[in-house]
Parts: sequence; C-alpha cells; structure tokens
Amino acid sequence: MNDLLQIAIDGPASAGKSTVAKMVAHELGYIYCDTGAMYRAVTWAAIKRGIKLDDNLALEHMLSQIKISFAPSVKGQRVFVDQDEVTDDIRLPEIANNVSTVAAQLSVREALTKRQQEIAINGGIVMDGRDIGTTVLPDAQVKIFLVASVKERALRRFKENKAKGIKVNLETLEQEIAERDRKDSTRAVSPLVQAADAIKVDTTILSVEQVVAKIMKIIQKKAKNG
Ligand code: DC
Repeated sequence: MNDLLQIAIDGPASAGKSTVAKMVAHELGYIYCDTGAMYRAVTWAAIKRGIKLDDNLALEHMLSQIKISFAPSVKGQRVFVDQDEVTDDIRLPEIANNVSTVAAQLSVREALTKRQQEIAINGGIVMDGRDIGTTVLPDAQVKIFLVASVKERALRRFKENKAKGIKVNLETLEQEIAERDRKDSTRAVSPLVQAADAIKVDTTILSVEQVVAKIMKIIQKKAKNG
C-alpha cells in the first residue's frame, strides 16, 4: 500500500475506537491520533484554571495561550498541556463527566478541528473521534463508524477502570455513557452522526482482533479499488 491514506474512525464512547485505531495504525505503520484526548486535555486545563466549562469566549482565550501536544511512547500516546503531562489525569471520571460540555463549545471545536487537520495533512494517519469523517477529514479515503450496545460499552469501561484501580459502579457507568451519547449526538455543532460514506462496524459481539481484521479488509479493498 503506497498511498498514505487518511483513515477516520468515529463512533460513540467506549465502542473500542482507540484500541482498534491504535492497532490499525500499528499494522499500517501510520500515525495514530486520538482526538478525544485533545478535548479531554482542554477540559483538564479549563478545570485547573477555574474556567466555566460552557464559557465559549474564556475557553477560546485559554486555547490561544496553551499548547496541547502528543508524544508517542511504548505505552501509547502521551498527552501534554504545556509542560504538564496529563495522560492519566484526562481519563479520570471528573474529566469524562465534563468533557461533553467543553466539546460542545464552538471555539473549542474550531481550534481543535484546525489542529487535527494540520496533523492529518500528509495522510498516513488513523484518527479517531466523533466528527472525523463528517467535519475534520470529510475527504478521508476510509471512514469507519464503530458501534456497540450501551451495556457492552459500559462493561468495557468498567473493566478498563478496574484494571487501573479506579472504582466505579457498572450501572452508573451505563447511565453516564447513555448521557454522553445523548449530549454528543444532540449538540448543535458537529454532532456525532455517521458520515454518509462511512462503513458501520458493530463490535458488540466481536473481539478486538476480529474488528481490526474487518477494518484492515475494508482498507485493503479501498487501496486496491481507489
Ligand atoms: O473518545 P473520548 O471518550 O476520549 O472523547 C471524549 C469526549 O470528547 C466525548 O464526550 C466526545 C468528545 N469528542 C468530540 O466531541 N469530538 C471528537 N472528535 C472527539 C471527542
């Protein structure tokens, strides 16, 4: 595969996007970009500065003053806000439960979309998020929309959190995921919707390896047929 493709992987919270996107990027020797981590990092920075999370102008001002950056590592992508490493902190429930509010602000979406487009400009990238196929990379050659039932997604987050020693209740998680789905799909700016030319992959009863194999097949077919 010689052409460096743009591959967009979108879908609701905990559908397995980041795990799968990371593995697909690894198989192709592509860069992996987790756009959710960028929204989480902005949320972290706003909370740290005591900025109201729905204050569009204050967030815009903050974004002009901070730098969000990534560094690859053996454990995955590390995330920084200026000099502070926030890789682990942005996964805490406090961030997960507030990020939808920040992600609904126009100034935040505009700034991060622009940054994501710059990162993807040369192709050779697997980018995951909610609006990659619809807004960030509308011309991406491959667009995948990953879905799974709310129950299955809550169970996956539960296991992830447990492995990290974070205590959460499964039912609470289910409610939080359903609420985030609702907020992400109904917001005015760039809501979570499947792009018309995206291929839907339901991961509810598939293993990670099966999902990756399915996506690799879609990519290979695309690369062959254009
Ligand atoms: O994928 P995640 O759970 O890390 O995403 C965190 C939040 O950011 C989630 O509420 C949706 C939002 N998000 C978004 O609005 N657009 C993106 N491209 C990526 C994430």
